[in-house]
Amino acid sequence: MKQTVLLTGCAGFIGSNFIKTITCRDSIKAQYDFVILDALTYAGRLENIQPELDAHKHLTFVKGDIRDTKLVHELFQKYNFSGVLNFAAESHVDRSIENPNIFVETNVLGTLNLLKESLNLFEENPAFKYLQVSTDEVYGTLQMEDPAFTEETPISPNSPYSASKASADLMCRAFFETYKMPVVITRCSNNYGPYQVEEKFIPLMIKRALANEKLPIYGTGMNIRDWIYVDDHNEGVWLAFTKGKAGEVYNLGGNSERQNLDVAKIILKHLGKPESLLSFVTDRKGHDFRYAINYSKAQKELGWNPTVRFEEEGLGKTIEHFKSLWAK
Ligand SMILES: NC(=O)c1ccc[n+]([C@@H]2O[C@H](COP(=O)([O-])OP(=O)(O)OC[C@H]3O[C@@H](n4cnc5c(N)ncnc54)[C@H](O)[C@@H]3O)[C@@H](O)[C@H]2O)c1
Repeated sequence: MKQTVLLTGCAGFIGSNFIKTITCRDSIKAQYDFVILDALTYAGRLENIQPELDAHKHLTFVKGDIRDTKLVHELFQKYNFSGVLNFAAESHVDRSIENPNIFVETNVLGTLNLLKESLNLFEENPAFKYLQVSTDEVYGTLQMEDPAFTEETPISPNSPYSASKASADLMCRAFFETYKMPVVITRCSNNYGPYQVEEKFIPLMIKRALANEKLPIYGTGMNIRDWIYVDDHNEGVWLAFTKGKAGEVYNLGGNSERQNLDVAKIILKHLGKPESLLSFVTDRKGHDFRYAINYSKAQKELGWNPTVRFEEEGLGKTIEHFKSLWAK
């Protein structure tokens, strides 16, 4: 019999790619129906997934908020989900610095709402599973000489965004420890790829370069992120959902640590634009210096590896995607 799984936040960047590359595979279509719950905030765009919704009967879209207790309760009653993957979140660090409240409301209280409803279903169905899509930013920041984050690295978030994601992770842990509900958490590094909202670093750099406008670089541009192509992340999320051990955390990383300034320069080069477009601006408050991920646990336990090479493959595909939208 087919199972029905709830996917939240899948009109956004990572989730919409998950719909395209994971849920529409024949082997997965044969086993699962998916209900997609998304509030369509500024970051959620139905057009990202409309072609898949039109083409596939096993996908059902519901516009709604994970904080809405009545709606979420009714959905859980109606569909009797066998699992939940929670992608929904407020995800932009800069926005969290301006207005932390919505980050606590969606990322913490919204997650708690999903966990509570999940617990009801878990009590009836011991095979029920919950996966929380989290971030390496919960670990805080690294200096150059520090080893990469492992799953044992203490949580030490620095921004209101990462503090809200860490709080949600702790609530997930509590549901496993207290109620033995099978919760798995993935913590991934910075994603890039098609359908990302243009205020995020890589699409912003591409958009400005295409328009011959200044590319704003925070501080000295020396901050380091470990970039992962969105499809690699989504493979890891699905493997963690289907094969991950209850109560465990799995780090997912791209093995592509790059300085922000270097990323901007590669984009300019790819588009044939001059480096004179680079413009250094006041640094982000509390800007984490470096993230690096040790993902050996996901390699060993899930058989997962990042496959897309940053300069040679992923960045080019991403640039071409945005060029098709924005180039005049
Ligand atoms: N982007 C990254 O580099 C990255 C890295 C690691 C982890 N993550 C995590 O992955 C998940 C997805 O990130 P993203 O980059 O796709 O984010 P995004 O901002 O592009 O998309 C978020 C989606 O969630 C929806 N949403 C927001 N609030 C909601 C609410 N209250 N109820 C229902 N839906 C709501 C939005 O409409 C949108 O479709 C997030 O949990 C994020 O913390 C992101």
